Amino acid sequence: MPSIPNIKACVFDAYGTLFDVHSAAGKHRTHLGDEADQVSTLWRTKQLEYTWLRSLMQHHIDFWQITQDALDYALETAGIEDQTLRTDLIEAYLHLDAYPDVPDVLDHLKTADLQTAILSNGSPHMLEAAVKNSGLESRLDHILSVEEIGIFKPDPRVYQLACDRLSVHPEEILFHSSNAWDAHGASAFGLRVAWINRFHQRPERLPGAPDVECSSLADIPNLLGI
Ligand code: LAC
Repeated sequence: MPSIPNIKACVFDAYGTLFDVHSAAGKHRTHLGDEADQVSTLWRTKQLEYTWLRSLMQHHIDFWQITQDALDYALETAGIEDQTLRTDLIEAYLHLDAYPDVPDVLDHLKTADLQTAILSNGSPHMLEAAVKNSGLESRLDHILSVEEIGIFKPDPRVYQLACDRLSVHPEEILFHSSNAWDAHGASAFGLRVAWINRFHQRPERLPGAPDVECSSLADIPNLLGI
């Protein structure tokens, strides 16, 4: 008996779950020097903060602009004023590495006739580029961007978008995210949730609760009994 029965669609967060956001700074580590890890961490932290803050302020802009604003904040904090490096870093966001466990798991899900989709804050062109450049195109049935509704995660309307577009009930979706706050948001909405705890973080004190916690996506087929 699978631990998570009756799943019809597997839906994935993009950044941090399928794609390694730190691979962008990693590719330019020589130019960033000692500041590489600090820039990368602050870049990601500010990127997420800006999504939450702009949602509360009701001043939406797309994730591509947010990602640039967050990068500018991180570079300025590190005292870096190199326009070429800035361009290289933002371009690298379109060529992020997929985590090594991703292709095989998506193949396994497709073989089992499950629908596969991304549900992400990313704007459509960012997601399409990341999917294409990491060779995942044929492994994903849908790429769903919050830009369709103009609000970021964890607004419940984002998780509803997946149900609407995949024509399934919330409890028929297994949503995967390495971002604990996203896992809680999806669970509080009513999706089944696997928290892919890649970064060994402590559990959040937030509404909702992941159905399962795993350290990588490789555990998922077993949990689904496929
Ligand atoms: C995303 C962010 C939250 O892909 O990682 O939606």
